[in-house]
Amino acid sequence: MHRSKNVLVVGNGGREHALVWKLTRDGANVFAAPGNAGTAEEATNLPIQATDSDALLDAVKQHEIDLVVVGPEAPLVNGLVDKLTEAGVRTFGPSALAAQLEGSKIFCKELLHTNDIPTATYRQFNSLDKARSFLESREDEPVVVKADGLAAGKGVFVCSNREEALDAINQLQRDPQFRTAASGVLIEERLDGVEVSVIAITDGRTIVTLPPLQDHKAAFDGDRGPNTGGMGAFCPAPFVTQSLMTEIEEQILVPTVHGMRRRRTPFHGILYAGLMLTSQGPKVLEFNVRFGDPECQALCIRLESSLLELIDAAVDRRLNEIRSPTWKSGASVTVVMASEGYPETVEKGHAIRGLGPASELNNVVVFHAATTTSSDNPETVLTTGGRVLGVTAHAESLARAKLKAYEGVKEIRWRGAWCRKDIADKGLRHEQEQAASESTESSSPSSEGTA
Ligand code: AMP
Ligand code: GLY
Repeated sequence: MHRSKNVLVVGNGGREHALVWKLTRDGANVFAAPGNAGTAEEATNLPIQATDSDALLDAVKQHEIDLVVVGPEAPLVNGLVDKLTEAGVRTFGPSALAAQLEGSKIFCKELLHTNDIPTATYRQFNSLDKARSFLESREDEPVVVKADGLAAGKGVFVCSNREEALDAINQLQRDPQFRTAASGVLIEERLDGVEVSVIAITDGRTIVTLPPLQDHKAAFDGDRGPNTGGMGAFCPAPFVTQSLMTEIEEQILVPTVHGMRRRRTPFHGILYAGLMLTSQGPKVLEFNVRFGDPECQALCIRLESSLLELIDAAVDRRLNEIRSPTWKSGASVTVVMASEGYPETVEKGHAIRGLGPASELNNVVVFHAATTTSSDNPETVLTTGGRVLGVTAHAESLARAKLKAYEGVKEIRWRGAWCRKDIADKGLRHEQEQAASESTESSSPSSEGTA
């Protein structure tokens, strides 16, 4: 049984800091490429971009790395795992062919369709003009317009009517960043319901499902404003009961992994299902082929058993041999602190204050994302992008985890820093509704009592 010693985590976001943090605690000697100011505190940062596969391979040899964990989607879609695996390096993540599950929305829909996995109905077009004619010829209904390729979360337009959908097509046509992604376009039925993230680790045969989470994709409180990479997450998402989880495993995750094996693009790594819990049951909105960010932060703080053991077993295709992971009871909350202007153009280079006091709070971990250490003063941490920190807390209840996370947030400041104030509120409302309906049931007279 291989137990990795020197582990390289590829990427520089909050997800990667959480992976580095956990793998270090699991006993690994961790390197991050390129990492951020947070990973530098736990691991050795290597100045190599996540997309520079030649330099990564050199670093693996130089530092005797025996496991590479790839964080973000772009290097996965570009074939980093194939390149490292061919060179004999144990690497966690899907091949480029399997990563199309996230890299091409058309590939994903075809796989779902072939395997009878529940998802929104859709039509696909190979040109924006054809998509426009289709919209003009059909009833005026809510739809979702999606560009086929990776577009950093920006190629999806949730539209209430035809006018908005046509506007989305125009935006895809105008904006050069979408040109490649929009060479294929999907028009989907718009689903209603509660959105959840269910993440699993798989070695291509065995699936280990992690507790369900909810992300907050809209920029502002009350789910208003533009779409973002994710402004906060909580775990577990109380909407997903044990029986619903079983349904998600049996009807979505297992057929996806089997379907990928049957079409000879076996899937290894993290399978992240973005789901809508509709009145007709859970339906797939999208798959990602890596940990969610900020979901990974909220998972890592709760994971009691070894992540290294899970990943090692997945890489060696022996997930069936190991114990199920164990989780700290209670709940976790991650609140993303962002720079002024995010998700549009942001200000960078501001000094962050209060990181020390926030980290000293019990059960609070400040995961870094867009940060770097100042070259003038290694004590000073500077902002380098939009999502800067993921302040993460664990507590015995969701309500307390939320309070704790915001206690951490209160300690931290830089010019223009902001965050959503309502992370986890939908989960808390759900818990209150459940409690109210249970107390009504127990206080209403039983049939015997009223006879
Ligand atoms: P995606 O990148 O495909 O997950 O889409 C980004 C976001 O758009 C999702 O997190 C949902 O909030 C929303 N979305 C995507 N597809 C649909 C759909 N068919 N119906 C309703 N909302 C959707
Ligand atoms: N938080 C959503 C994602 O990582 O795609």
